[in-house]
Amino acid sequence: MSSLDLRRLRQNEHVRALTREVHVQLDQLIQPLFVAEGLTRPQAVPGLTGVHQESTDSLLRQVEADLAAGVTKFLLFGVARARAERQIDWSFTAGQVRALKARFGHDIWLATDVCLCSSTPHGHCGVLNAEGDHLDNDASVAELVQAALAYAQAGADCVAPSDMMDGRIRAIRTALDDAGLERTILMSYAVKFHSTLYGPFRVAAGSAPKSGASLKDRASYQLDPARPGDAWLCAERDANEGADILMVKPGLPYLDLLRELSRAIRKPWAVYHVSGEFAALEALVAQGLANRAPLHREILIAFRRAGASMIITYGARYARDWLAA
Ligand code: PBG
Ligand code: ZN
Repeated sequence: MSSLDLRRLRQNEHVRALTREVHVQLDQLIQPLFVAEGLTRPQAVPGLTGVHQESTDSLLRQVEADLAAGVTKFLLFGVARARAERQIDWSFTAGQVRALKARFGHDIWLATDVCLCSSTPHGHCGVLNAEGDHLDNDASVAELVQAALAYAQAGADCVAPSDMMDGRIRAIRTALDDAGLERTILMSYAVKFHSTLYGPFRVAAGSAPKSGASLKDRASYQLDPARPGDAWLCAERDANEGADILMVKPGLPYLDLLRELSRAIRKPWAVYHVSGEFAALEALVAQGLANRAPLHREILIAFRRAGASMIITYGARYARDWLAA
């Protein structure tokens, strides 16, 4: 026994590389994209370096640039101009899916977020009841199913419901299969917490609950951070209802659950490093208090160590540099 017992394997980069257990690869990262109807030029999203609300034209240019940066997997959020509560028109976002797949085909893997919050007048993720104080579960699921069908028919490789209604996974899977879309992958935002870390996203997606609405926030449908047991129930339920991929969201505050759930439920797990988490890192960098590449690398490694197969991150388009640095 020498005093160098554990430090011996840390002494240079060669031996550190040989002993590393966890790796992050660019092809495990998914880049979110926002496209808004009626925009003539891209609009920067506050807090999210390099992320824009794209116009229909700039969306295609952005994906081209992302492909050149080695990114091939995307999660699309569409923001249509018109808002309605029922019989929502999904054609704007479906059209963007069609355009992306027509241009890039199998060079990209395109997931499309399925939710109502960018489309409803009040900004909630579902249909409000008559009293305006609760979301009507079944009416919401009926709308979500139509969105998922529209996106899958337009060629999305994956549909990803983020609304947190009950029973939407089975309803969407059944509708996809009935429509002959049995190859469309279903990624469930299964373990999505009621978080204060969604701020920049809500600007980008135009999806903040409107002030003055009688239902003030999303606490009646997203998970309570102090109730991990509910995370297990949601994950098991969505796995049984036919989700192909399960997700934990946000990432860093919920690594405990990502670790436990990904060991227990043997489906692929995604983690969403959400907008507020990403913006917080960028704020450290902007103040000169952290080095950008190693900071982001450390966080990406944490997600992989905790059991994520894939990571949804606003930084995917920079990650080739970050991982090489
Ligand atoms: C809404 C939705 C949210 C995100 C994705 N879809 C947040 C919310 O509940 O308002 C968050 C993503 C992020 O913050 O990066 N269905
Ligand atoms: Zn929503």
